Amino acid sequence: MASDNWTAVDDYISNRLIGADPVLDEALRANAAGGLPAIDVSAPQGKLLHLLARSVKARKILEVGTLGGYSTIWLARALAEGGRLVTLELEQQHAAVAAANLTRAGLRDLVDIRVGPALDALPKLESEGAGPFDLAFIDADKPNNANYFAWALKLSRPGSLIIVDNVVRNGAVADAASPDENVKGARALFDALAAEPRVTATAVQTVGSKGWDGFAIAVVNEA
Ligand code: SAH
Ligand code: DHB
Ligand code: MG
Repeated sequence: MASDNWTAVDDYISNRLIGADPVLDEALRANAAGGLPAIDVSAPQGKLLHLLARSVKARKILEVGTLGGYSTIWLARALAEGGRLVTLELEQQHAAVAAANLTRAGLRDLVDIRVGPALDALPKLESEGAGPFDLAFIDADKPNNANYFAWALKLSRPGSLIIVDNVVRNGAVADAASPDENVKGARALFDALAAEPRVTATAVQTVGSKGWDGFAIAVVNEA
């Protein structure tokens, strides 16, 4: 099966370029023990997020959708000196598992976990003057992707990166007639990206241990 090969290649990439990482392994074990779904990004994808955050020397990172904090660990490890990450999570139980994982990772002090609907937290971040974020990673409820993109843009600066997970959905994104609300959410995001002159965007398909999916990546243009 193709997906077996995809996983074998993810394992190969991880073995050659990522290596043993007991903190991340333990985070995935704690997620499973806490009953969280295994919908974290893969290790190669997590490292891509890390590298992108490093490339923009991110000091402020926004994440929408924490789960157990697996992607949060990859991103927080990339923070420049004095940097902070804010991550938004609906479920108290997910946030509790994430907090423990971040503590074990030695990153708890760098990460502000806010529990509740992200669409409530985002206007609060704006009124606090928490931005601009150098990088936003959007990975929560897919029907709200275009809303989260609008907020990430509002909380950005020229040069910020906005990355959205799960925009390919086994290829279903190309099906204009799909009744799937997650697919409609991905398509609404593409519409928003296409219509937004303040960003330059692309999307890349990925295959691997998490199946066939993809990231959208946008950079906020200079004014
Ligand atoms: N980024 C994580 C995976 C996130 S899974 C990783 O790669 O490790 C998606 C998460 O979004 C889940 O934990 C889910 O509870 C959360 N979520 C769903 N709806 C949400 C909402 N309205 N506001 C904030 N978080 C939400
Ligand atoms: C789902 C959510 C994700 O963020 C992901 O990466 C994979 C699957 C889901 O809700 O099924
Ligand atoms: Mg995801």
